[in-house]
Amino acid sequence: MCGIVGYIGHRDAYPIIIKGLQRLEYRGYDSAGVAIYDGDSINLSKTKGKVEDLKKKSEATMSLDGKLGLGHTRWATHGVPNDANSHPHYSNSGDLVIIHNGIIENYDAIKKELINRGYVFHSDTDTEVLVNLIEEVKKKENVKLGKAVQIALNQVVGAYAIAVFDVNKPDEIVVAKLGSPLAIGIGEDEFFIASDASPFIEFTNNAMYLDDEELAIIRLGKEIKLRKIKDDSVVYPSIQELQLNIEEIEKGGYDHFMMKEIYEQPRAILDTYRGRLLADQGIIKMAGIDENIEKFTNANRIIIVACGTSWHAGLVAEYIFEDLARIPVEVEYASEFRYRNPVITDKDVLIAISQSGETADTLAAIKLAKEKGAFVFGVCNVVGSTISRETHAGAYTHAGPEIGVASTKAFTTQITVLTLIALKLAKEKGVFSQTQYHEYLTELENIPSKVEKSLLSNVLIETIAEVYKDSTNCLYLGRGYNFPVALEGALKLKEISYIHAEGYPAAEMKHGPIALIDEQMPVFVIATKKGHYEKVVSNIQEIKSRKGKIIAIVTEGDVAVKELADHVIEIPETFESLTPLLSTIPLQLLSYHIALMRGCNVDQPRNLAKSVTVE
Ligand code: F6R
Repeated sequence: MCGIVGYIGHRDAYPIIIKGLQRLEYRGYDSAGVAIYDGDSINLSKTKGKVEDLKKKSEATMSLDGKLGLGHTRWATHGVPNDANSHPHYSNSGDLVIIHNGIIENYDAIKKELINRGYVFHSDTDTEVLVNLIEEVKKKENVKLGKAVQIALNQVVGAYAIAVFDVNKPDEIVVAKLGSPLAIGIGEDEFFIASDASPFIEFTNNAMYLDDEELAIIRLGKEIKLRKIKDDSVVYPSIQELQLNIEEIEKGGYDHFMMKEIYEQPRAILDTYRGRLLADQGIIKMAGIDENIEKFTNANRIIIVACGTSWHAGLVAEYIFEDLARIPVEVEYASEFRYRNPVITDKDVLIAISQSGETADTLAAIKLAKEKGAFVFGVCNVVGSTISRETHAGAYTHAGPEIGVASTKAFTTQITVLTLIALKLAKEKGVFSQTQYHEYLTELENIPSKVEKSLLSNVLIETIAEVYKDSTNCLYLGRGYNFPVALEGALKLKEISYIHAEGYPAAEMKHGPIALIDEQMPVFVIATKKGHYEKVVSNIQEIKSRKGKIIAIVTEGDVAVKELADHVIEIPETFESLTPLLSTIPLQLLSYHIALMRGCNVDQPRNLAKSVTVE
């Protein structure tokens, strides 16, 4: 996820772009850049760091005059955050300038072809490849910029929101979108381009949002020309009057980042496997694993280290790796592992999971494992973070920035990456037949739409939250793959609503927690069809006979639990090992609503920090 801003009109472009980038910083903040055309040439400034760093650099080093410009705040996907990889990017001739939010999956093949034709690259980005492809098409086909962009985009696979201009035609910006958002603000003789309307809301209320596979040619003094990228058919612009304030826009219309991030999960999971999971070809492509496959297949065991929610994702991974790939796994709290003199050998693989990539204990665990000769693999969200640099190899989750302190989309995308790895290893080790493998890949592709369906219970969940919002204690129970989900559900509730909550394997209840159960105690039970269903039903009966209140997460069409529980929330059926990706959704929503009803600060709960960089 990145933020893009563009301006063409009669005002100075620079202040509009810088302010717009600051408003879009929630979309990414590892580097930023701005390009301003001053009527003669382009002034470009780019830097690793925040928009504030860009502001200081550009104001100290370049002329800021000009009525046409593009700006970008980056959340790195290809290439670490540094000055060179920051956007905007030039084409080789220096004529074309581009900003891009998204991922071009086949950039490597295109890059090789362009290198053969003499193109030179100054960054590791897929975006620089795209702008040079546009330049190549423009020259070869002798077409205008709009047509060249269209032809080039028909050759790329991936997601994008782009804005590009040609220094030889400074009255025009071409924009296009597939998968990433793009809004155009329409003023009097001026146009604004942005990832959302927040950069231009104070200048105009008139805006249009591009649909997927649309390209717009924005020319001063002319109407916007809109076309379908695939077949060149004309689309009639639909301009709407915006009635949102800036805060509402940044949160995508949601009241809180946490809710926005919960609802982003279908898209985030898709972005995680995009370009990696090729179900039709029956393959999973992951460079970090492909290049080190023997380290994994020859490993004595996999040790997973993490903290908090990431540790819960690690627990899910333990089930997946052992169940599917038959590799022994140990999951450790990084803070314990680093200090307990663990036995580690060079036949161990250590997987470190961290959303931020900066967690101090996880980093220390990595250092220790490296010293002992283990191969260390990172699963991080933040590109270029310390953990992603300290590990031997890794895979990013591509969830986009997670702003809400309580992890939501980080958890499901971590599980997605770990599932891809486990499936790959299952296939490599011959544990899976091609047919089984294929079935899994296809089902994994169905997960985003099943998450979407799980989110439909939101209204029901809000009514359940109303009933239990004043509870002082809650229990969360699950077995098998749903045990880590119970832990995660309890953590979500306690961290944002300050209600005491405990997660347990359902069968452990008898060994102590059952003493807590009375008519005041809400018990959230994950009782999905696969995964010891009958046994969980027996556990529910035990709670019922002690008058506990039962809120059950069940598989669509369930009958037995419905008869016993006080409330049921249905999720779609899926493979047992993929269930956590769905069963966790209602628990996230429930915590959100309860916290909100208790008047808690959902996005910034007390005493917590998004990134724990101290011990
Ligand atoms: C809980 C939460 C924390 C983090 C933990 C690890 O919602 O966000 O428990 O999961 O602090 O952080 P990362 O994944 O950044 O290492």
